[in-house]
Amino acid sequence: MRIGILTSGGDAPGMNSFVYNFVNLATIHNYNLFSVKFGFQGLIDGQINKLNAKDVSNISHLGGSFLKSCRCPEFQTKKGFDAAVKNCKKHLDCLVIIGGNGSLKGTLSLHKAGINVIFIPATIDNDLYYTEKSLGFDSAVNCAVEQIDRIKQTMLSLNRIFICEVMGRECPDIATSCFLATNADLLITNKLEGKLETVFEKINISLKNGVESPTIILKENVLNAEKLANQIQNKFDIETRASVLGYIQRGASPSVFDRIYAKQLADKSLNLIKNSLFGKSLGLTNNKIQEISIEAANSVKNR
Ligand code: F6P
Repeated sequence: MRIGILTSGGDAPGMNSFVYNFVNLATIHNYNLFSVKFGFQGLIDGQINKLNAKDVSNISHLGGSFLKSCRCPEFQTKKGFDAAVKNCKKHLDCLVIIGGNGSLKGTLSLHKAGINVIFIPATIDNDLYYTEKSLGFDSAVNCAVEQIDRIKQTMLSLNRIFICEVMGRECPDIATSCFLATNADLLITNKLEGKLETVFEKINISLKNGVESPTIILKENVLNAEKLANQIQNKFDIETRASVLGYIQRGASPSVFDRIYAKQLADKSLNLIKNSLFGKSLGLTNNKIQEISIEAANSVKNR
């Protein structure tokens, strides 16, 4: 059997760990492996090449994606999609797709077009709601917490208020975990929590309680961190700074949790392939690796 493997959308720590484990396991079982470079774009362009265990020997502990990734608007056009399906049918018997929610939608389309697919959840945002965790989320949170701890030390030295913006797109999970893990004073994940009066009130309480350097964790896409910092500074007459963590969270090397999770996902996906059980998405339910149909995974829109 010819198995293709690709990473799609924003890269996530743990993608490489999965690829390493999957390629090694599949090699032991004598499968023919193929890399599809640059996600769905590579599928459209036919960038499909033989992949050996030797190629991936030193990638398991690295952030990013060795297979390269891509956000691919062309895949959503009929011409692009048809080309991808054609290449899939010509070169592969099955395709393992590692990615986030846009990639899951793409996987569903390929499944409906008759391609044998397996989907592996990987996005720092944790916004694939059918699974308790996606690969990369734990690493991103650990990385963000480490950075917030550092920023805290300098802010505390000068008794400044500070805002730290973290990623997550529309999902509050990174922000919420950072808030809890750093014992921050205020969490803003939506417009309501970001209302100026509410923010002022909470900072006031923290200051009254003796907090010297109130800390605010802000999810991206809610409000402008710099602007909020100015508004807070004007209100309290206390120096206030904003830090947007940005891509540093995405390029982290995979955490222990993500490395082990990747190994378990690789093991489970190969078992599915061995038993010709395609059209499945893998993930964590009740802390156990489970598979569900691509359709069902795609239909879960919140937790
Ligand atoms: O991959 C997830 C993510 O990092 C989001 O948290 C962020 O909003 C987005 O990707 C950034 O996308 P891009 O890499 O296209 O700038």
